[in-house]
Amino acid sequence: MQVNGLNFVITGAGAGIGAGTALVAAGYGARVMVSDTNDADGEAVAARIRDAGGVAFYQHCDVTDEGQVQALMQAAGEQLGGIDVLHNNAGIHESVLGGGLDLESMSRDTFDKVMAVNVLGPWLCAKYALPWLRKSQQASIINAGSVSSVAGYPNCVAYGSSKGAIMQMTKMLAVDLAADGIRVNCYCPGSIRTRMVDDFLAAAPDPAAMLNTMTNTHLIPRMGKPEDVAELVCFLASPAASFINGAVWLIDGGSLAWRGTLDILGMEDTA
Ligand SMILES: NC(=O)c1ccc[n+]([C@@H]2O[C@H](COP(=O)([O-])OP(=O)(O)OC[C@H]3O[C@@H](n4cnc5c(N)ncnc54)[C@H](O)[C@@H]3O)[C@@H](O)[C@H]2O)c1
Repeated sequence: MQVNGLNFVITGAGAGIGAGTALVAAGYGARVMVSDTNDADGEAVAARIRDAGGVAFYQHCDVTDEGQVQALMQAAGEQLGGIDVLHNNAGIHESVLGGGLDLESMSRDTFDKVMAVNVLGPWLCAKYALPWLRKSQQASIINAGSVSSVAGYPNCVAYGSSKGAIMQMTKMLAVDLAADGIRVNCYCPGSIRTRMVDDFLAAAPDPAAMLNTMTNTHLIPRMGKPEDVAELVCFLASPAASFINGAVWLIDGGSLAWRGTLDILGMEDTA
């Protein structure tokens, strides 16, 4: 994977897909600015990369805080010697915020928080990374969408709305930044086993039944792994993807390719 020598900034990189991407990209020779709101987790990911001989720094950043985003991009630009790749990974689901998830019981505060992290955050990060991305010869922004960017699911109205918005922001920024030579792409994962999914399952009335509905439509009969997504992010950042711009990539085990569950194919869910 040709991300050797590229400078990545990854938000929410203390856990899950962000951590997986930091480790995989560094393994391919990228230099990584790990950022998160959870300092212990973020520092640990940066330390793992350095222990393996890679280059990584950590900077605290809540993507909804404009000053912290500005400071992150400044620190990344200076410490890495530029920014080539902004991976807008940080995201939350309403199930981690407590309270009801249906239209009647969800609070406005919950809706606002999900939108702030999942939509405002990537916009702020793009805004303050821009001066550095403009100086790069291989600049790209890679946004975390979701299958809920394009399809419905129960009890996800704030999350799904935010993921639809980030998919569309991808296309708008791809247009506006084309003249600067900055590619902007989005990927849409299905169910990837991380803390976010564990929290979502824990909030479901019947977690086992919910897990079954999440994986029983995957043509590849398992949950995704953070590394599955990390490989796609590295590909999208690499010169091999230099003609890919404004695109939306499904990485969902085939779940949106059809209408059915594995039993009609005589297959078993191995999740
Ligand atoms: N796991 C899945 O199945 C799945 C599916 C589709 C899309 N996604 C998207 O992938 C991204 C990562 O998801 P994940 O499953 O790895 O989640 P996760 O909850 O495991 O990790 C998210 C990380 O983001 C950090 N974070 C939370 N709020 C933040 C903020 N305001 N600023 C900075 N960092 C913050 C958390 O501390 C955590 O380290 C999210 O955008 C999510 O919507 C995940």
